[in-house]
Order: sequence, then C-alpha cells, then structure tokens
Amino acid sequence: MDEPDDRPDDARRPRHWREDFPVRWDEDHYLTRRELAKFLTLGSGLLVGANLGLVALGRRAPRGRPPEVRVASAAAVPPGGSVLFRYPTAEDPCILVRTNAGVLKAYSQVCTHLSCAVVHRPDRDALFCPCHLGWFAAEDGRPTAGPPERHLPRIVLEVRGDDVYAVGVERGDDGHASVP
Ligand code: FES
Repeated sequence: MDEPDDRPDDARRPRHWREDFPVRWDEDHYLTRRELAKFLTLGSGLLVGANLGLVALGRRAPRGRPPEVRVASAAAVPPGGSVLFRYPTAEDPCILVRTNAGVLKAYSQVCTHLSCAVVHRPDRDALFCPCHLGWFAAEDGRPTAGPPERHLPRIVLEVRGDDVYAVGVERGDDGHASVP
C-alpha cells in the first residue's frame, strides 16, 4: 500500500514547473482590483497636481526682458547699406538696413513664406527672397510681391550715441518703431 504523500503541495508539483517559475506560492504577492484602482487613482491625482503646479509656476514666472545687442555703428550703414546680425539668439539671422530715405530698419532674415534667407536690394529699396521671388518693403517689412503673405518680423532698434542696438522683436502686421 502506498504511503500517503504528506509533502507540501509546492513540493509535489512537477519539477519542470518549479524550474520555469521559481517563485514559491506563499511568497507571491497579490494585488487586488481595489488596490490597483486605488494605486491608479492616486497616481493620476499626483500627475494632475504636478501639471497644475507647473502651469501655476509658468504663469507666475516673470517674463524676461529681451536681450540688448549692439548691432553696428550707425555711421557704418549709409543709405542703401545693410549689416547682418543675429538676434535674439545666435540661431536667429537678422538684417539691419538703411532705407534709401535714410532710416534704419531691422528684420528677421527668415522669409515668412518658407524660411529662406532674404537679402537687401537697395536698388528697389526692398528685401528679396530668391527662393520663390518674394519681395518685402524695406520701410516696414510688408510683403509686396511673390508668395509671402506676412510681414517680416521686425527687430526693435535703439540708437545710443553712434551705436545701434537691437532691443526686441515685434511680430504681426501693425506699425512699428523706426530709428532715423
Ligand atoms: S521662401 Fe521666400 S518666397 Fe518662398
């Protein structure tokens, strides 16, 4: 007659199961649906709270003043002349021009059509984009011919002594400051 096998259940399982799943039954950790729901709710709540905190911080943070960058000596830019510079960061190409009327103006050099670089064309008192023959008026950056439909972003200028400084960027199609 066979002896009763009083080994624990775990020990009676076929050996290959234990090799494949070497976790003891009594060491397993259960997670009930209720616990999972609690965990997910708490996690979601924390994420929502963190996002709201970031939004509040973003609204309270003071907006930094735009940088002031010396562009050129005003005397070095005669009527019809131009100077390339970068503003407000080293990644933003800009162009300072003196119109044929003798007024200093500065614009982003990035065409508002498909971002080619515009060049100064003093013979037409304009800025020209060679990619698709776009034209902008030098006096206010408005598009005058070709595919561009938006003004060039304008760089706000200040003249201090003989030095021309870039002190801000204006986007949009309204009027803007000029420097004689
Ligand atoms: S990119 Fe300037 S006209 Fe098209």
